Amino acid sequence: MTAVHHFLEVDDLAPSALEDLLAKAAAWKSSPAAVPHALSGQGVAMLFEKPSARTRSSTEMAVHTLDGHPIYIRGEEVGIDTRETAEDVTRTLASYCTLIAARVFDHHLLERMVAVSPVPIVNLLSDRAHPCQVLADLLTLREDLGSLEGRRLAYVGDGNNVAASLAFAAALCGLELTVASPSGYELDDDVVDRARNLGGTIELVVDPHEAVKGADAVYTDVWTSMGQEEETQQRKVAFAGYCVDDDLMATAGDQAVFLHCLPAHRGEEVSESVLEGPQSVVWRQAENRMHGVRALFTILVGADG
Ligand code: CP
Ligand code: NVA
Repeated sequence: MTAVHHFLEVDDLAPSALEDLLAKAAAWKSSPAAVPHALSGQGVAMLFEKPSARTRSSTEMAVHTLDGHPIYIRGEEVGIDTRETAEDVTRTLASYCTLIAARVFDHHLLERMVAVSPVPIVNLLSDRAHPCQVLADLLTLREDLGSLEGRRLAYVGDGNNVAASLAFAAALCGLELTVASPSGYELDDDVVDRARNLGGTIELVVDPHEAVKGADAVYTDVWTSMGQEEETQQRKVAFAGYCVDDDLMATAGDQAVFLHCLPAHRGEEVSESVLEGPQSVVWRQAENRMHGVRALFTILVGADG
């Protein structure tokens, strides 16, 4: 039996497979006529326990342009572990679909799905990781910087799911990553250790100005992620001083591009002027979500030629 390749975190791809994915995504972005009919006659289940603008829409369009059929399912509709177990939902969806993609509160739920699924499980965001996001981020950075080897990425803010996936992505691509977070909100030690074991150069600091000085790219995300809403007020206090504003971008320098996975909270983690300013690439970054996930799906179903 052929091994099923799941995608719960970026390092589920070998560096060469990631390189191949990014090359395909870029090629099909510039030549849409070359996109293969990789999912012809096949379904992709998309299970969402949380809201989404970009992930749902980009994934649906990726499946559509691969000639497949996306099935959007809200978590409450299937009632995971209330109406029936996650395992039973997974086996049922796998009987109709070639891929199952899911956005979940608890990363452990994805691992339970993997344990029983005969088809690949794709993480569309969990509390621990957002790997499809960072495929788009890498694609965007390559458009702006060319080769990422030895380039410097500064992440300012919460050591959250996006930061964790960026740490692995950076390690696989040779990007040097500096993460600036307030005390108590740093990247988990096990993420840092794992990224370093992959060969990553990753530094954790407290001062955002120290992190961004001379960086090629500055990245931030919301202070309060989905599922943490009850911590919103304490996080606003903890993250005061971590807004990516004109002052911080001036420290970074004119060469730096600004990234944000979105949704953005203007006046909190990013100022209006930076988000809408000349260094911001966030809209192209959002567009690249579709190109990244499309290439991923062709690789996961082994139809990438
Ligand atoms: N960046 C991202 O995942 O956006 P959505 O939450 O809107 O899907
Ligand atoms: N860290 C954010 C990312 C949203 C795309 C969250 O988990 O809500």
